[in-house]
Amino acid sequence: MTLCFATNNAHKLAEVRPLLGERFNLETLAEIGCTEELPETGDTLDANALQKARYVWEHFGIACFADDTGLEVTVLGGAPGVYSARYAGPARDSGANIQKLLAELAPHPNRAAQFRTVIAFIDANGQTWQFSGTVTGHITEAPRGTGGFGYDSVFQPDGFTETFAELPLAVKNQIGHRGKAVADFVQFLTQRC
Ligand code: IMP
Repeated sequence: MTLCFATNNAHKLAEVRPLLGERFNLETLAEIGCTEELPETGDTLDANALQKARYVWEHFGIACFADDTGLEVTVLGGAPGVYSARYAGPARDSGANIQKLLAELAPHPNRAAQFRTVIAFIDANGQTWQFSGTVTGHITEAPRGTGGFGYDSVFQPDGFTETFAELPLAVKNQIGHRGKAVADFVQFLTQRC
């Protein structure tokens, strides 16, 4: 079965590719000839994931899925949440986002947070499904590690002493938000095919 992953994020592709396995042929946006930026104007993760997948389905007519992820910090009332990418401004600068987050959290002893991923899948007929995954942890005092992307260097998952940027990708995929959502998605696809 061929599926397009509606993302321009090379890190997300690298995470998801091994999780889908041999059975599914993953096509990138570049491979299907989609060069434009996908719209992402919703105010929930669910809406954004669906909007990105729907854009590809409407323009290219193929089965596709998209993920939208937010970092939800308890003491900030769930912020930055759906606005995680542009937390520090429209430039979507991960370094600036992290600096803003650390500054916001400086006065707060409670640094609990979770990552939440929503995957929207649209089959070739236009029918839609959603899958989600979360991982709880806390925001560290300072960035640690060089792996991963986005907020990984300041997120330490519960049960670990390392941040996601210090852990091997296989571990992040096993315990992480995206890995859990993709596992549910793959189980669904496997039952259906
Ligand atoms: P989006 O899902 O691409 O909209 O991502 C929203 C924001 O969260 C961006 O700033 C991403 O860099 C960040 N982000 C998404 N997934 C992850 C992740 O797995 N780890 C760390 N940051 C992430």
